[in-house]
Amino acid sequence: MAQPREQWASRFGFVLAAVGSAVGLGNMWRFSYLTAENGGAAFVLLYLVMTALIGLPIMLAELTVGRGAGRSPIGALAHYGGPRWRALGMLFVASGFLILAYYSVIAGWTVRYALIGLLAGFEGDPAARFEAIASGPKALLWHLLFMGATVGVVMGGVRSGIERAAVVLMPVLFAIVVGLAIYAATLPGAGAGYRYYLELDFAAIMNLDVLIEAAGQAFFSLSLGMGAILTYASYLSRDNHLPREGAIIAGADFGVAFIAGLVVFPLLFALGLQEEVSGSTLGALFITLPKAFAEMGLAGRVVGVFFFVALVVGALTSAISLLEVVVSSLIDRLDWERHHAAFRLGGAIALLGIP
Ligand code: PFF
Repeated sequence: MAQPREQWASRFGFVLAAVGSAVGLGNMWRFSYLTAENGGAAFVLLYLVMTALIGLPIMLAELTVGRGAGRSPIGALAHYGGPRWRALGMLFVASGFLILAYYSVIAGWTVRYALIGLLAGFEGDPAARFEAIASGPKALLWHLLFMGATVGVVMGGVRSGIERAAVVLMPVLFAIVVGLAIYAATLPGAGAGYRYYLELDFAAIMNLDVLIEAAGQAFFSLSLGMGAILTYASYLSRDNHLPREGAIIAGADFGVAFIAGLVVFPLLFALGLQEEVSGSTLGALFITLPKAFAEMGLAGRVVGVFFFVALVVGALTSAISLLEVVVSSLIDRLDWERHHAAFRLGGAIALLGIP
């Protein structure tokens, strides 16, 4: 017999869980390096516009379909579109599966950075450290531990696992990011960082490539196209006002990314490291930021640990939502028990992340 569908304990819990899905590595790490790569303020503006014009409507669609069908992506799309739409649902689930394997590996790096900062400090050759962190058996171990934590939360279920984790963790993340932005404002030289981040160059706005990057970032950052928001909405009751909920989620997601920029850019400019991230690759922030933390002495060590803890927290609540998409699909389709589904699928994803 099919298991009765779980529900969120409160509207507030649902919103925090969805914000937890949206706010992650995409906000603090991907957003910062894309902004640096695409010339600063113009990218920020285009990203805001794309969040409002493309992200928000698609989020509303996922919220509506998920709540209306009360099923995970495959069943929900078939419910509205007929059996042919199942294929799109399967694509959602498959992308969640693949993205989580990769996301968890990077999340494992952030856990190690937080611990290294705490136990030993950020001094030393930052590029060599990144090499050491991002490869080898220890990188594997931290990826597996991170997946273990994700599985542990998802096993707890919608209310006692996912919602409870979000209600505890998201306020911590907000407090850290705001605190760091306030600290960054006191750095001598922060002004140049703000100018880069906030002063518009109109020529750059007309660039189609930047626009496409901004749209892609809005999509990724709002957790769209993989069924995470749809799945979370499937645990909602009828009395939610979805446009308002969607606007809060999108606003919080943009807000955290924007505030993360108010941390990263003043820091880089205050220490004269901005050249090192412009034209950056994925790893650049992982190399340059620790270098900045090391140069700032004890304060930098504290700031660095908080920064990486915020990244870990954001990554965890996002990874939880990715795993939940896959888990809820198998609960719905095959009537698997939640903890078996979480354990087996988490294990399979962890294995996939190894190569
Ligand atoms: N939105 C997350 C981030 O910005 O890091 C990543 C993500 C989570 C994408 C869940 C998609 C998803 F379904």
